[in-house]
Amino acid sequence: MSSPAPALVPAAPPSELRLGGAAPLRGTIHPPGDKSISHRSLLFAAIADGRSRIEHLGPGDDVACTRAALGQLGVRITDGRDGSVSVTGRGFEALREPAGIVDCGNSGTSTRLLAGLLAGAPFLSVLTGDESLVTRPMRRVVDPLRAMGATIDGRADATLAPLVIRGARPLYALDHTLEVASAQVKGALVLAALQADGPVTITEPAPSRDHTERMLRALGVDIVPLAELYPTRANAHGVRVEPGAPEPFEIVVPGDPSSAAFFVVAACITPGSEIVITGVSLNPTRIGFLHVLQRMGADIEIGAERLVVGEPVGSLTVRSAPLHATVIEGDEIPNVIDEIPVLAVAAAFAEGVTEIRDAAELRVKESNRIGALEQELTQLGVAVEAKADGLVIRGGAPRAATLKSHGDHRIAMAAAVALHALDAESSVRGWAAVASSYPGFAADLDALTARP
Ligand code: S3P
Repeated sequence: MSSPAPALVPAAPPSELRLGGAAPLRGTIHPPGDKSISHRSLLFAAIADGRSRIEHLGPGDDVACTRAALGQLGVRITDGRDGSVSVTGRGFEALREPAGIVDCGNSGTSTRLLAGLLAGAPFLSVLTGDESLVTRPMRRVVDPLRAMGATIDGRADATLAPLVIRGARPLYALDHTLEVASAQVKGALVLAALQADGPVTITEPAPSRDHTERMLRALGVDIVPLAELYPTRANAHGVRVEPGAPEPFEIVVPGDPSSAAFFVVAACITPGSEIVITGVSLNPTRIGFLHVLQRMGADIEIGAERLVVGEPVGSLTVRSAPLHATVIEGDEIPNVIDEIPVLAVAAAFAEGVTEIRDAAELRVKESNRIGALEQELTQLGVAVEAKADGLVIRGGAPRAATLKSHGDHRIAMAAAVALHALDAESSVRGWAAVASSYPGFAADLDALTARP
C-alpha cells in the first residue's frame, strides 16, 4: 500500500482559467518533472530488486495513476519529508494480482506501459480509464504482447480498453516492427521483453522518444539501439533488448520539455519577454520543437548539458522575436507530437502559412487534436484548414475569444498561451484538464508574468 500524498500537492485547477491581457514573461522557471521519465522511473524502480529514490516526480494525475497502479500490484511506494518518493521493488516475481480494476485515468502512457509489464505477470489484471482513454487505440500493443504469449482481451475485439490481461511467464522472444513510431508501444514491448525467454528486437518506422532505452541502459540492462548495432543500415530505428531487470537507482527527474514548451512559445510571441528555463531534459528526441521554433526565427539559446540516468539535462534562454511560417513533417513529427498544439499557436502568431503533415496520430491523443486545434484557432479568427494528417495555418493577427480545452491538457495550455499574448480579457473553459500533466501551470505563468 502507498502512504498518503505529500502535503504540498498543488490545489486542483479550477474549471475555467481567466486571462487578463498581454504581459511580457520575465524570470526563471524550473519545469515540473518530466512525465515520460516519471512513469518510467516508477515502473523501473518497481521491478528492480531494492529501494530506489525519485526526486522531482511529475506532479500530474497521469503519473499518479501509474503510482497507484503499482501500489495495487503490491509495490511499496512512500513519500519522504523532502518531497522525494521511495519505491521498494522486489523484481517481477513479487508483483501481486490486483484486487480491483486498475484505473489509468486519462493516461495512455500508464495503460500501454502497464500492459507490457502485466503481459509477463501470471495473474489477471484489468486496465481501464476515462471516457477519452477508452477510445484510444490499443491493438498496437495488444497484438505483439499476444504474440509473446500473453492472453489479452478487451472491448471491440481487444482494440480498446478496458483491457483484460492474463500474463504468461516467461514470455516468448519476438522480432516486432511497429506500424507507427510510438514510444509508449516500444516501452511496453521492452517491459515485456525483460520478462522473455530470449532477446527481443523492436523496429520502428521513425525514431520515437528514447527514455526507456537510455534509462534501462544506464541501470545495467542489456538494451542496444539498432542504430548502434547496425551503423551502416539506413533507417535502423528501434532497440534490441535481452531479458533482465534494472538496478535500483536514485534520480532527480529532469524538467519536462513538453511543459516548458508552453512558456517557450509564450515568451516567443509576447513582446518584451525574456525567460530562463533551468534543469530541463534536452533529450534529442524531445526537443524537436526548439528546432522548429528556431527555424521560425525564434531567439532561443540552448545551455550546457549534464547526464542524469542517461538523460541530457540543461537550460534554455528564450527572448521574444517575430516568427515566420514553416513546414513540420516526416520523421520530425514523432519528436514534436506533444508540442504540436503549442506550435500551432506559434504558427497562428507567425507571418505566412505553416503546414503540419504526416501527423494523423494527433487524432488519437488525449483529444482529436487536429479537430480541437481547428476549432479553437478558428475561434481566434485564424484561417486554418484541417487535413486528415495535419493542419494548414495562416498566421496573422489572432483576436481574443473564449476557448475550450476539449478535455485535453495540452489544448488547454496551448489556448492559455495564445490568449496570454493578446491584449484583452478572455478565458479557457475545461481548464481542469491541465491536472493530467501540469496542475500548477497557471501559477507558474503568473509568476513569470511581470505586469506593468
Ligand atoms: C509518451 C510517448 C508519446 C507521447 C506521450 C508520452 C511516452 O506517445 O505522446 O505523451 O511517455 O512514452 P507515442 O506513444 O505516440 O510516442
